[in-house]
Amino acid sequence: MKLVKIMKELKTLFSPEKIGNVEIKNRIVRSATFEHRAEKYGYVGQKIIDFYDELARGGTGLIITGFTGIDPSATGSPYQLRLDNDSYISGHKKLVKIVHDQPDVKLAIQIVHMGRQGEHPRFPPVAPSPIPEKTTGLTPKELSVEEIYELIKRFKETAIRAYECGYDMVQLHATHGYLLSNFVSPYTNKRRDEFGGSIENMAKILVEIFNQTRDELGKKFPITVKLQTHDSVPGGLTLDTSSKIAEILADTGYDAIEPSGGIYESQLAHKNPYPCKMIKSSEGENYFLSTAKMIKPLINKTKLILVGGIKNPLSAEKILNDKQADFISMCRPLIYEPDLPNRWKNGDISPAKCTSCNSCLVVMRKGPVYCVTKKNLEKKS
Ligand SMILES: Cc1cc2nc3c(=O)[nH]c(=O)nc-3n(C[C@H](O)[C@H](O)[C@H](O)COP(=O)(O)O)c2cc1C
Repeated sequence: MKLVKIMKELKTLFSPEKIGNVEIKNRIVRSATFEHRAEKYGYVGQKIIDFYDELARGGTGLIITGFTGIDPSATGSPYQLRLDNDSYISGHKKLVKIVHDQPDVKLAIQIVHMGRQGEHPRFPPVAPSPIPEKTTGLTPKELSVEEIYELIKRFKETAIRAYECGYDMVQLHATHGYLLSNFVSPYTNKRRDEFGGSIENMAKILVEIFNQTRDELGKKFPITVKLQTHDSVPGGLTLDTSSKIAEILADTGYDAIEPSGGIYESQLAHKNPYPCKMIKSSEGENYFLSTAKMIKPLINKTKLILVGGIKNPLSAEKILNDKQADFISMCRPLIYEPDLPNRWKNGDISPAKCTSCNSCLVVMRKGPVYCVTKKNLEKKS
């Protein structure tokens, strides 16, 4: 197919759009991916810099880092990025620079506390309520109101550090069963104080982090959230509640929402759980689209980033043209092909080669993430 025709077919996918005041050169986002490539204790080193260099050269408009700890107790692996004190700043500045060396590529930092699913050898897991976690076998400690305000401060301070490092925006990790998602779920939040009991109270931690960060940094630093929309366990969060939470967050001023779902325990409830569903056929693609369709009309000017099984550029283009999302976001496809956006832009619009087999998830637990399928194919040829 001629390049001019392809560019017409993918016109919206490769058109610029803003998140807050920051312009992204196209609608393609690299969804947050724990690469297991930081140095010990979460410092930025050459391994992770090289990984981001390759990604930034591949044509993605906005890269979101892997989940980055806001506190020494916040991480699940010593090789997960951290930015909880100033000793981490110089490394993150190098990471930002390597990405910004590529024309118009933007970098967001995703910040996290592992909460109920924490398995830190020195710090016990914490959560809004002490509900035993069935995959780790641990019962989290219930946070006091004072401790919650302390964690809000830590999220804000990490966002301020990220701004000082040169990041273009921040994404709060409020999904997949980690701390912030524990607050928005009736399965893990049984509180009856200011942080639980009503939908407004469940959303309060996210509203507080937003307000305190915006007060410090203003609108020049967009604040976004990856939001839990389904827990996929009996008695867990469902879309009727999470869509109201999304509405509250949009009214608060969040610049973008990336709906996602699933917790560790969903693996016990389903064979093919969120957030990383295996995709057997094209019908399985874009598996958060029905969620996006429900949330998009409720969030006004807040941008919607659609993640989950996106592989086909023509269907991505249609989703954007139908105004069901403002951006599309990919994780596993970019592990296989970090240059996928350039491949599409240069005329090869066949779907992503990623088979969604989830082998990357398995290797990522033990060492640097890579695509197992691709490596096996390379060995054969
Ligand atoms: C290896 C791996 C690491 C991931 N790390 C993160 C992470 O740090 N933060 C996050 O929010 N989601 C993480 N995810 C989930 C992805 O961002 C994404 O939501 C999910 O893989 C679905 O998108 P996909 O179909 O494009 O892969 C990870 C997924 C994989 C496979």
